[in-house]
Amino acid sequence: MSYLETAVEIAREAGGLVSRYLERRIGYQTKGEFDLVTEADRASEKLVVERLRSHFPTHNIVAEEGGGHQSASEYRWFVDPLDGTTNFAHGFPYFNVTLGLERAGEIVAGVVFDPTRDELFTAERGAGAYLNNRRIHVSTVARLADSLGSTGFPSRKRHHNVNIHFYYQLAMASHGVRRTGSAAIDLAYVACGRLDLYWEFGLKPWDWAAGSLLVEEAGGRVSDMRGATHSVTESDHILADNGALHAETLAAFAEIFAGKLRIPLPEI
Ligand code: IPD
Ligand code: CA
Repeated sequence: MSYLETAVEIAREAGGLVSRYLERRIGYQTKGEFDLVTEADRASEKLVVERLRSHFPTHNIVAEEGGGHQSASEYRWFVDPLDGTTNFAHGFPYFNVTLGLERAGEIVAGVVFDPTRDELFTAERGAGAYLNNRRIHVSTVARLADSLGSTGFPSRKRHHNVNIHFYYQLAMASHGVRRTGSAAIDLAYVACGRLDLYWEFGLKPWDWAAGSLLVEEAGGRVSDMRGATHSVTESDHILADNGALHAETLAAFAEIFAGKLRIPLPEI
């Protein structure tokens, strides 16, 4: 079995487990003020890490809830055992299990599995991106004015997050900007053309590892929000889009970074 096939098997098993927890409507705890975590996050992570360890005992694993494994291997798995925890904790059916595999600084394989829709997004570097084994491509929308975007607002230190300015300017310049609560699904939706662009500040490698590869392999572009090369481990922010919108979106972001707000936030 290839790395990707193994990751798919594990993501499907963890997705099934998380879905069974959803039916039970379990409670949640908080990590910090608003960052939720549930028994399902922990159980899913335990399962994923155990499976990865048994298939690839020498590989590094970095998992959101801290259950990883360190080694000298050039392979490193980034695991979000439940991306969209706040949605999940409220019974809002929009979450996923995602695994990305890095080799020597580059993401080489990725999976995003949405158990609520039975949608499996997969990619291997150089081999295209797929939804339920059918090849996917980014959209062809060429103007922000015709686009549908998405973004997110991290739970950690959310009072310090400047994204509301970006959200407002881009929402006013487009058909709309969604806030779905799952970074990995947002990226997967850019890859299959349901969304035209996605950006966010302050994500962690497990949030965007698999999704950024999906977008690239589907023909889109990924950079940071200032146009620099996106690094899964080092970047502070991400812009992922269909490629056609990249320059226009970066120009809009540059204005906002410079404090030039075309449309001021309305007064209350
Ligand atoms: C969160 C989701 C959300 C994004 C947050 C992430 P989690 O991941 O991806 O969409 O806006 O920044 O932290 O905590 O649900 O795994
Ligand atoms: Ca998570």
